[in-house]
Amino acid sequence: MNRIFIFDTTLRDGEQSPGCQLNTVEKIEIAKALDELGVDIIEAGFPISSPGDLKSIQEITKVVKRPVITALSRAIKGDIDAAVESLKFAKRKRIHTFISSSDIHIIHQFKSTREKIMEQGIEAVKYAKRFAEDVEFSAMDAGRTENEFLAKFIEAAIKAGATTVNIPDTTGYCMPWEFGDKIKYLFENVKGIEKVIVSVHCHNDLGLSTANTISSVQNGARQIEVTVNGVGERAGNTSLEEAVMILKTREDLNARSNIDTTKIYPTSRLVSRLMKMPVQANKAIVGRNAFAHSSGIHQNGILKNKFTYEIMNPEDVGIKVSSLSLTARSGRAALNYHLERLGYKVTHEELNDIYQRFLVVADKKKDVSDEDLRVLMGEKPNGNGAKLAQLKIATGTSQKPRATVSLKINGKYRKVASYGNGPIDAAFRAINKIVQKDVTLDEFLIQAMTGGSDDLGKVHIQINYKGNTYYGFGADTDIIVASVKAYLDGLNKVL
Ligand code: KIV
Ligand code: ZN
Repeated sequence: MNRIFIFDTTLRDGEQSPGCQLNTVEKIEIAKALDELGVDIIEAGFPISSPGDLKSIQEITKVVKRPVITALSRAIKGDIDAAVESLKFAKRKRIHTFISSSDIHIIHQFKSTREKIMEQGIEAVKYAKRFAEDVEFSAMDAGRTENEFLAKFIEAAIKAGATTVNIPDTTGYCMPWEFGDKIKYLFENVKGIEKVIVSVHCHNDLGLSTANTISSVQNGARQIEVTVNGVGERAGNTSLEEAVMILKTREDLNARSNIDTTKIYPTSRLVSRLMKMPVQANKAIVGRNAFAHSSGIHQNGILKNKFTYEIMNPEDVGIKVSSLSLTARSGRAALNYHLERLGYKVTHEELNDIYQRFLVVADKKKDVSDEDLRVLMGEKPNGNGAKLAQLKIATGTSQKPRATVSLKINGKYRKVASYGNGPIDAAFRAINKIVQKDVTLDEFLIQAMTGGSDDLGKVHIQINYKGNTYYGFGADTDIIVASVKAYLDGLNKVL
């Protein structure tokens, strides 16, 4: 098995995504999680970009000691000096320096020549080498660089002392077979390449970053540069979870990483929460629906043998169970599974009858809950559910948001008011005062159905209670009401 080194750049390339900026405390929290996840190298920032970034890298290196910590620098002395300063407390450090290699960058961005750019890159590697044994050189836009020139450049970088040479597909332009061939070409044409680690760094502009990364591994790359949830410039970088789970699931690739895959999901949630970057529901590996089987045929297969429709164990990525949701598309097998789980034993004929009634409910509701099933089975609702009776919000530019919430619980009304950071926070705080359950909000996502300002807002939430995850959903033309409905939907599952 070839060992693949995981270079995580969530804190550098990932943090470059609009709206994903983190403060130092948040960066340290993510760096610690990446350490526990088992990444080999953490790219902690681009220190010349701001004094705050430099300081954050220093703070990370004081706490995180196992992985190599690297800092990015252009092929400029001042940048390298900043990287050196940022890494002065690092137990294991790497200086990462880069310059473009494609004609399109050299001519139009640098207004220079191949020879001058190559000299600058080589000088940068030599300069970095004065401060660190471990130096990575990246040929930016290598994906669009002519192979012959790229090979010459990489060979010179290795001669100058680079210990890792990185081949980025900066614009996400390459096709998987082309990118694989590029790596193969370098192995066949660069003297000394066997002495260094060949790395790849792929962007996802055409949705091919993971495919290109895997193709390069098949052709000899031994370091892959990735981000959690695939965050990064424009359409993002190769997602860590996809690349790692491909290596684990497809043993025939004969490559393995040192990642503790059971930490993937919690790390994904942490990055999403701190970067305020929701993960799309159908995102491979970590999306809300990645292990949710909803069609009748699929549910039927899963109940007989989960490998019929599951190629990975959800537990392997840190997700507790695959959710077999009950919707209008579920079949009798799934319904029976949930009934048995709730303690009901029914005959074949009874199941047929219940199924017809179930479909009536399922047509009206997105997900059919345990409570709905109990009602279907003739039991009264357990009465513990909290229903929104009234909601009043006072907010604006000149006052602290305040929510007054009235809930009906067990037939009784309870009314509480609370202030908050915003109207939704105020409403949730008021609900917490009534319900008094120690829940934490792990995910909160508001989406417009179609886009107009008169649109229906959909809210998905994910709450955690005593280590278990509960989902809630609400929809309304008023997003605060939709949020409250979603929160209550989740809380009622706890109650
Ligand atoms: O995409 C890119 O080329 C980069 C380099 C700095 C490695 O992020
Ligand atoms: Zn990049």
